[in-house]
Amino acid sequence: MKTLVTYMSQTGNTKKVAEAIYEALAGEKEIKPLSEVKNLEGYDLTFIGFPIMQFDVPPAVKDFLAANTKGKKIAIFMTHAVPEGFEAIHSWTGSYKQAAAGANIVGAFDCQGELAQPIIDMLLKSDDPQMKAFGEMGPSTKGQPDESRLNKAKEFAKQVQAKM
Ligand SMILES: Cc1cc2nc3c(=O)[nH]c(=O)nc-3n(C[C@H](O)[C@H](O)[C@H](O)COP(=O)(O)O)c2cc1C
Repeated sequence: MKTLVTYMSQTGNTKKVAEAIYEALAGEKEIKPLSEVKNLEGYDLTFIGFPIMQFDVPPAVKDFLAANTKGKKIAIFMTHAVPEGFEAIHSWTGSYKQAAAGANIVGAFDCQGELAQPIIDMLLKSDDPQMKAFGEMGPSTKGQPDESRLNKAKEFAKQVQAKM
């Protein structure tokens, strides 16, 4: 059984989760950025990770899911600045399900990731109260994903693999 872990990550948070998942996996495995993945041929299971951006799944990830996951077993992992369980989170993350409609989605994991300082600074200058409030939350995200979140990601990886 061959497993691929692939991810999009601008500031390193999703990459940390990807590496934790990779570390926890047994058997033949590979890890690489999504930009280096041509297709999912030859993999029995693929973990696909990305950050939530602008209250949605990044368009490049949606395109990748739509083009490459039909009939494939995939597991999704995501990072976002808001805490897990934030009320709007499902409406922001849900679009991966439509994009990967033809896939066999065997699991999904999400956790908080630090909001980068340049983004905090930009949001704090915004006239939009929602954006400003988002910026004010930024400092509380420092250091995420921490050890306990990375351990949860490892558990997730093991649980997904146990289902195969
Ligand atoms: C342009 C931009 C937009 C973002 N939009 C959201 C958002 O809508 N909701 C959220 O919770 N986090 C948002 N974030 C925060 C990221 O999802 C979070 O910091 C994530 O862990 C970044 O992952 P990365 O380090 O792998 O790029 C945004 C970050 C950026 C840079």
